[in-house]
Amino acid sequence: MQDLDPERIRSLLTTRAYGRSLDVRESTASTNDDAREAARAGAARGHVVVADAQSRGRGAHGRVWSSPSGTDLYLSIVERVTLSPERVAPLTLAVGLGVADAVRALAPALEPRVKWPNDVWIGRRKTAGVLVEASSIGARMDAIVIGVGLGVNRLAWHEELASSATSVLHASRELDAVCAELDRASALATLLGAIEAWVDRFVAEGPAPVVRALEERLALRGERVRCDDVEGVLVGVESSGALRLETSSGPRSMISGTLRPL
Ligand code: BTN
Repeated sequence: MQDLDPERIRSLLTTRAYGRSLDVRESTASTNDDAREAARAGAARGHVVVADAQSRGRGAHGRVWSSPSGTDLYLSIVERVTLSPERVAPLTLAVGLGVADAVRALAPALEPRVKWPNDVWIGRRKTAGVLVEASSIGARMDAIVIGVGLGVNRLAWHEELASSATSVLHASRELDAVCAELDRASALATLLGAIEAWVDRFVAEGPAPVVRALEERLALRGERVRCDDVEGVLVGVESSGALRLETSSGPRSMISGTLRPL
């Protein structure tokens, strides 16, 4: 927890808004819930809640996000941009690109890729997950909460995650690239800078640059995959954020689902 000192984090920030208002917690249920509450109480755009541990960390599709203390980053950002609901899917991909940029900045030997729709993979293992939650009050869209869990220094996982999870340190050691533990305060500052840059770009230019960047950096492109009950070759991502598959009966667009390699 000492390496998440708020003053140190502030001194390392390069962002315009993200993290300029900062709430660092030793432990919480879910930073996404804390950020939602802060947003309802009037927190500014860019307010960040970061915790050393979460007791009810949430992943996509109601899954649990394993959140032990001391090793990784669990954070949520209050974003106040007004987006129509169909723009939330490409926003999630833009955040994924930010996370991938940050991983590369932290460990240049790694080649992180965005795994549709909300993961970042190094090789075949997941190192980060993004959970964007938007809600509305009546007809008006409330703040958007961008939640990110990033494996930073973790080297061991429960049995069910042991073959599918990694962290920046774990993946670096596998490559023999970097051996020292990463400093979580500077990893957080790098992460916030990279996410802010991609979200700003998405807000200013729309999904086109996100789709273009994913041409190079999408996990499983060109491979045979299954998305829920549909099998095909992963062709790419559309500007709606949908996944494009080429199946034996022609092209298919998937707007949601769990994607697995075959
Ligand atoms: C996923 O891959 O399923 C998304 C995981 C998102 C986890 C982060 S950790 C910080 C924030 N708080 C949560 O409860 N979830 C997100």
